[in-house]
Amino acid sequence: MAEVGHLQHARHIQDMSAAKSLEPHWGYAERVVPCVNDPGSCEYLDAVYGANDLGMIYVAILWATLFGVVFVWSVGRRLWPSPRADAVVSANAGVEVLTASKPKGLRLKRTLAAYGRRYLLPDAAKSIFGRITRLQVLILAILACYLLIWTHVGIVYKKWVTPVKGYTDLFNIRSGLGPWSNRVGVLAYALTPLSVMLASRESLLSVLTGVPYQSFNFLHRWLGYIMVIQGSLHTIGWSIIEIKLYQPQPETARNWITQLYMIWGVVAMLLLLLIFALSTPWGIRLTGFEFFRKAHYILSMVYIGACWGHWKQLRCFMLPSLLLWFLDRGARLIRTALIHHQYLPEKSMGFKAVSSRLARFPDNENGDVIRMDFEHSQEAWKIGQHFFLCFTEGSIWQSHPFTPLNSPEVRDGVVAHSYIFRAKGGETKKMNELAAKKLATTADATTSVILQGPYGESIAEKLTPDVNVLCVAGGTGVTYVLPVLLDLVQKPASRDRNIELIWAVRRKDDIRWIEKELDIIWKAAVSHRIGVHIFVTREQSSKTTSLQDIKTIEKEGDIQEVGSASSDASLKGAQTAQAVDVQKIGGEGYSQHPNLREVVNNFVGNTVRGPTVVIIFVHGLRGHPQRTWSGDTNDSTDSNEDNGGRGADSSISRRELLKAIFGGKRSRPTAGSNNTASTRSSDVFWPAELLSHDIPEARIWTYGYNADVINGVFTANNLNSVSQHGQDLAIKLRREVDNEDPIIFVAHSLGGIIVKDAIHQSADKARTKLVVFLGTPHRGSSYADWGQMASRLASLALQDSNREIMRALEVDSEILDRIHKTFINDAHTLSIKVHSFQEGRGITASTASAIETVETIDADHKQMARCANRNDARYRAISGVL
Ligand SMILES: Cc1cc2nc3c(=O)[nH]c(=O)nc-3n(C[C@H](O)[C@H](O)[C@H](O)COP(=O)(O)OP(=O)(O)OC[C@H]3O[C@@H](n4cnc5c(N)ncnc54)[C@H](O)[C@@H]3O)c2cc1C
Ligand SMILES: NC(=O)c1ccc[n+]([C@@H]2O[C@H](COP(=O)([O-])OP(=O)(O)OC[C@H]3O[C@@H](n4cnc5c(N)ncnc54)[C@H](OP(=O)(O)O)[C@@H]3O)[C@@H](O)[C@H]2O)c1
Repeated sequence: MAEVGHLQHARHIQDMSAAKSLEPHWGYAERVVPCVNDPGSCEYLDAVYGANDLGMIYVAILWATLFGVVFVWSVGRRLWPSPRADAVVSANAGVEVLTASKPKGLRLKRTLAAYGRRYLLPDAAKSIFGRITRLQVLILAILACYLLIWTHVGIVYKKWVTPVKGYTDLFNIRSGLGPWSNRVGVLAYALTPLSVMLASRESLLSVLTGVPYQSFNFLHRWLGYIMVIQGSLHTIGWSIIEIKLYQPQPETARNWITQLYMIWGVVAMLLLLLIFALSTPWGIRLTGFEFFRKAHYILSMVYIGACWGHWKQLRCFMLPSLLLWFLDRGARLIRTALIHHQYLPEKSMGFKAVSSRLARFPDNENGDVIRMDFEHSQEAWKIGQHFFLCFTEGSIWQSHPFTPLNSPEVRDGVVAHSYIFRAKGGETKKMNELAAKKLATTADATTSVILQGPYGESIAEKLTPDVNVLCVAGGTGVTYVLPVLLDLVQKPASRDRNIELIWAVRRKDDIRWIEKELDIIWKAAVSHRIGVHIFVTREQSSKTTSLQDIKTIEKEGDIQEVGSASSDASLKGAQTAQAVDVQKIGGEGYSQHPNLREVVNNFVGNTVRGPTVVIIFVHGLRGHPQRTWSGDTNDSTDSNEDNGGRGADSSISRRELLKAIFGGKRSRPTAGSNNTASTRSSDVFWPAELLSHDIPEARIWTYGYNADVINGVFTANNLNSVSQHGQDLAIKLRREVDNEDPIIFVAHSLGGIIVKDAIHQSADKARTKLVVFLGTPHRGSSYADWGQMASRLASLALQDSNREIMRALEVDSEILDRIHKTFINDAHTLSIKVHSFQEGRGITASTASAIETVETIDADHKQMARCANRNDARYRAISGVL
């Protein structure tokens, strides 16, 4: 108490020996009560302790706010996770069933996310903050404003002139400067654990928020700058008070600065300034990154200790700071130990480094590149994550971040790792020298590696099949995007996405770093709509450069060149998606870069606008949204049903079909169901498997409706009637195909009549540009009336020309007349092209009307919608019209 009293006397102008009792105050010295000082000093002490108590409350609010934000974020991302790529499967490999609706919540979320990305992700004030997003700067600004307000509120800004004991001519000036200086000091202390948390690699914040640890680096750095300012202001404030405003001088100042707590205070302030100087870009450049890193850790720990020594009442902030730091280190050690806890050669378990194969790509001008490949028994990491590698033959005290360039998969209990890195000045240079030495003696050179990690964010999880992917990389930076592409080519192809890789390299030879991986991508270029564009920036561009060193790879059985000397030689496959080119754009002065603005604009132009045409397939009576359009590669014989394609293997007998028509109950795909019952393995669902590839700009839909119950289909006011189906189709068109793209209908049999009606009922019928009818009888001279036509359609459905049954069908000629006339009218006024295919075999064809082009297909009514391959005459005819 005596020692404390001595220290307190100088610090708090209180006479502890005269204290009747001491009042505890969190974060500050105890207060003597009742006050035994002069009235002015007592009033000042009220202001000091009041401001301190408020300051501690504000700090509690600050931390509660931080916890609250992190908690809400953490709960929110679990409650409303973004759709994951592996949870969304492209419907029918490119063809959607029209009835599938997209959740509105998801659309809203995507729209908001898109706005967020647009306005918050661009760089903010690059000259001040460097390459950092507006979002990060916004968070920093909010924190800075918060601290600025909390620094100033609750402080009594007043001046007290008080007597100095034993002097009649000297006065102390007491003011709001004391409590204000304390406040900034307290805030600096309170921010220390946050600063440590933001710097952790085994980041608690990352676990909770899903944000990678590197993203917190900017805030860590700027929080450090704020703490330097706060520490400096605290020091300046108290220096003015103790050196200038308190009397007598210089005794007061000397007594003040020689106290132990003040010595720690000075040490803490000097450390803070040193840490700041070493952390500036200038400091890092001067001392080297590795020195900066190690010095930063050590100095920060000593700083925390010095802060504790300066003001132990605030150890509540220093203790968590130290704990967090040790937790980070501990977790790192444990994770590394776990990764390397493997079977040793003598079959016992123990710590084992990985043996990595070495390859070297010499480059005298730009620095050699080393490739490392190894397999390790561990769990797969996530695409986008990186490891810190420690090369034991270099230094066991260093580890450096590198991104594996391969796709992370566990095969036979091990995961392959492949890395490339450019030899720079430190560890990478050492490894390059080592590799050169080892490779000079053996081609199977290896070195041992210790892995730490993985760290960082997964970047491929949210790439659902409708997300377009543009990868842009320079040099070895390609390691970050390669796994994304390698992963996408392993997944089913999606027609809803374009994928493009733009890779800038200095020399054409740099392709060899990742030859194997590029081969895999190029082979999938057509099926997955991938464009690979490689720009060579530092080799003379010339259209006459010899092609002899151009690499060739096998692509779908052909040998095609993939590299060329100029953009002229860029390869274009049968489709644009196949574009693979290597362009030399550099030249004298090497000043040329790929025009990224143009590249991005082109990519966005090709994707944002999306498909330029919508093709909708509508099946006929007893048809099915998929089976109707599925041709059998093995079987050219007719099937038993109208056009549903159930074919010879159908277990439904004709007797059952008849039962269904006359009211027998059997479960069927309902109208608009997206039931895509399995087809035979030899079936080709040609809209998806052929047409979607041949017309890549088309978005293809199939419309499913219940055409099983024929009774009443040609009457009015029946839920299963033609006009009801037409209305349903019109509504679904509006709801689901919500873009401005032109529409083409391909309709089979009765589907044609539904389409005619749907066009008329559709709110934006002007979008319809073409209707292709397959075997749809229009009212023509060969049909006496609608009843006959209906009978014909029904007989097609049943493969039965039992006229007795047909007579039982009701036909409302007025409805059919109206549909026919309004369609002819619409076709004329809206310039809708009509192309009718009629069966050339089997059932007699109807004749053409004035508005249509009529063509005959060499198939019967049932088979005309079923194409088996690209050489099929039916496919050539129909796709030719489309
Ligand atoms: C997340 C991440 C992934 C990376 N992946 C790859 C990769 O796949 N291939 C590749 O070639 N390079 C990669 N790098 C860069 C690579 O880590 C550095 O080139 C390497 O650490 C340099 O080591 P050095 O001792 O030879 O560096 P030095 O010659 O001492 O320094 C060269 C430069 O490297 C930077 N650097 C040095 N050490 C580190 C470190 N520990 N962390 C971050 N930067 C450092 C410094 O800014 C310095 O300017 C990656 C960097 C990061 C941050
Ligand atoms: N974070 C990660 O996962 C990760 C992974 C690997 C590598 N890296 C980093 O990526 C960098 C790659 O270095 P490197 O030596 O391998 O590369 P490099 O050989 O210098 O290749 C970079 C290429 O990109 C071109 N380029 C540079 N700026 C461009 C711009 N603004 N627009 C268009 N093209 C541009 C360069 O052209 P010019 O040379 O003609 O200017 C060069 O052709 C290193 O800093 C490495 O640390 C990061």
